[in-house]
Amino acid sequence: MKPFNTLDNFELKNKTVLLRVDFNLPLDKKTQQILDTTRIKLVLPTIKELQKHNAKTIILAHQGRQGSWDFIPLKQHAEALEKLLQKPVTFVYDIYGEHAQETIRTSNYGDIIMLDNVRKFTGETEKKPAAEHAKTPLIQNLAPLADLFINDAFAAAHRPQCSLIGFTELLPSCAGRLMEKELTTLQKAVTNPKKPSIYLFGGAKFSDTITTIERLLSNGIADTILLTGLPANAFLKAQGYQLGEINEKTLQQEGTSEQFQEIKKVYNKYKNHIILPNDFAIEQNQTRQNITLKQLPINQPLFDIGQQTINNYTNILNKAQTIFLSGPCGVFENQLFRKGTEEIFTHIAHLNTFSIVGGGHTVAAVEQLNLQTQFSHISTGGGSLEKFMMGEKLPVVEALKAAKHKHYPLTIKK
Ligand code: 3PG
Repeated sequence: MKPFNTLDNFELKNKTVLLRVDFNLPLDKKTQQILDTTRIKLVLPTIKELQKHNAKTIILAHQGRQGSWDFIPLKQHAEALEKLLQKPVTFVYDIYGEHAQETIRTSNYGDIIMLDNVRKFTGETEKKPAAEHAKTPLIQNLAPLADLFINDAFAAAHRPQCSLIGFTELLPSCAGRLMEKELTTLQKAVTNPKKPSIYLFGGAKFSDTITTIERLLSNGIADTILLTGLPANAFLKAQGYQLGEINEKTLQQEGTSEQFQEIKKVYNKYKNHIILPNDFAIEQNQTRQNITLKQLPINQPLFDIGQQTINNYTNILNKAQTIFLSGPCGVFENQLFRKGTEEIFTHIAHLNTFSIVGGGHTVAAVEQLNLQTQFSHISTGGGSLEKFMMGEKLPVVEALKAAKHKHYPLTIKK
């Protein structure tokens, strides 16, 4: 028996459901076009099941963060969904105002409506408990229009945000099929993982990764941490390396000085377990050039890990019994700089080792390299997956568990 409700617990026929998904997708920085729709594809089983029961489906999702370059309306996402589903999806440039409410009221059962980027509502990311979120206009305006709330946003399950945990206070609620699958598979994977376990973190975010690394090492869950991408640069910077103005600017946009102090502490405590790159790739005359740590600082972006690092990391990975992979090793969207990601990912894919891959950009890289079937589990989660692997409680899962006992048994199936 699952600690939360699933779609199996509810009568869905001719119901109106609010479906929270994670369609936070990798975008092209220049064109702001969607680069990969894996997260949409993985929610299709839930949406198709709702369609089968002729449910009116109202989709809520976020993209980027207020102020970030990838904070855009969800029109493209609705179009991508429509293409994948081969069914019309009505996009509304509104979240909970009159326009959104009217569209929901006047739509028919079986229709699919996608509301705009939920993070346009400033209360979405405010830190407060579920009961307080439930008092916001987002929840107060939308909840009365629906019979059921379904959360299929595993990738955002670590965020105690309004649309993720507020509806469970007022509506019967359950996990969607993707959420259910992620939680069930990962639960099996974290109970007694085979050792040594190696965690590889890369990508373009590092503020959440610091605590993750500290916990994984202090709890003995991870034996070795390999760093690439921005997390690696942040650890090098905290050790006193001058990376060059352009690279330091990127780091400052993501992290605070307290976080760099924290990184320093973590590194000093666990230096034997944290491995950093010793070379990088930069662009010179439209070609890829290798530079070593000794050549820093350099006023050129560090776009990828270098060959020595690739060799060193693949040797270390050979000894692993469990591998966790989150974040590409470099700017893999650019052909010149996909080598690090390509070689490390392909190496892991061909090892006979239990391997979990997570994170929007990571999953996109795996798809592009056509390695989808070669890992033990591909998770849509990045931060949420890291938290789950550390054994931390996820606010969204906690809210779903609490809801299981709240709205019982009004619409529950016999
Ligand atoms: C993710 O992509 O990890 C989730 O959508 C959460 O995004 P956030 O880090 O901007 O909260």
